[in-house]
Amino acid sequence: MSLNLHEIREFALDTAKSAGTLIREMREQGDLQHSYKDQQELVTSADISADKLIVDRIKARFPSHRVLSEEGYNDTSIAADLASPIWIIDPIDGTVNYAHGQMMVAVSIAFACEGEVKVGVVYNPFMEETFSAVHGEPSALNGLPIHVSGLDVLRKGLVATGFPYDKSGVPPIINRVEKVLFECQDLRRLGSAALDICWVACGRLDAYFESLSPWDFAAARLIALQAGARCGHFSPVPAHIPDCIHCDDLLISTPAIYDALHQTLQP
Ligand code: IPD
Ligand code: CA
Ligand code: CA
Repeated sequence: MSLNLHEIREFALDTAKSAGTLIREMREQGDLQHSYKDQQELVTSADISADKLIVDRIKARFPSHRVLSEEGYNDTSIAADLASPIWIIDPIDGTVNYAHGQMMVAVSIAFACEGEVKVGVVYNPFMEETFSAVHGEPSALNGLPIHVSGLDVLRKGLVATGFPYDKSGVPPIINRVEKVLFECQDLRRLGSAALDICWVACGRLDAYFESLSPWDFAAARLIALQAGARCGHFSPVPAHIPDCIHCDDLLISTPAIYDALHQTLQP
């Protein structure tokens, strides 16, 4: 089987645009339904509709490909095997922002095969910004090449992070946040992990750390890597999990401040 990655990217771009238009219009119409997963994680009717739109399009065009999507096909164990084609989708990254009328909201679509993520698209329909990458090529924002900030002193760095819905996991995060805050210029919690990572890719942020799910970062991590970021973890990655999909303790930064931040994040 031969897959043309540029065709895959065009399909992903087109699909992300359609899903982005859908979520923008659903918010403008103002009749969103809200519900909660596990009594704490907000999901709107737009999350469900956008997930269905994306998955239906993939299944129609690539019926043999596997799909991992936050609201539909969310058995994350299938991402341990990236050998055969798999799509990894977050229909709305930044659902809480979305529900509050904010702009930091994105559709995230990644395509992986042969053991790694090959294509990533992150589309913010409220700011009309599309980040994209194909493995081995420079990343782009609205078609123009992007690069990490190149900052070399953590003290001057603007660092982003996030918090899980399950508040029982928050105390150790607060501890890390406190340590990082004393070492960098300032911290941000923007509410969309995919955009946080893309903003590291284009130099608006210098670094980002958080624990996530595969759909939050699969596309954005490739975009950051191909824009010159160093992508890793501040705790060991289990041997059986591909690095590009391991969710715990992610650290993504402009290269020269990575080691200092990694050190600061240690318990
Ligand atoms: C969330 C956002 C947020 C991050 C959470 C994610 P969602 O995704 O990316 O920034 O802090 O960990 O779950 O729920 O809006 O798709
Ligand atoms: Ca998400
Ligand atoms: Ca989501």
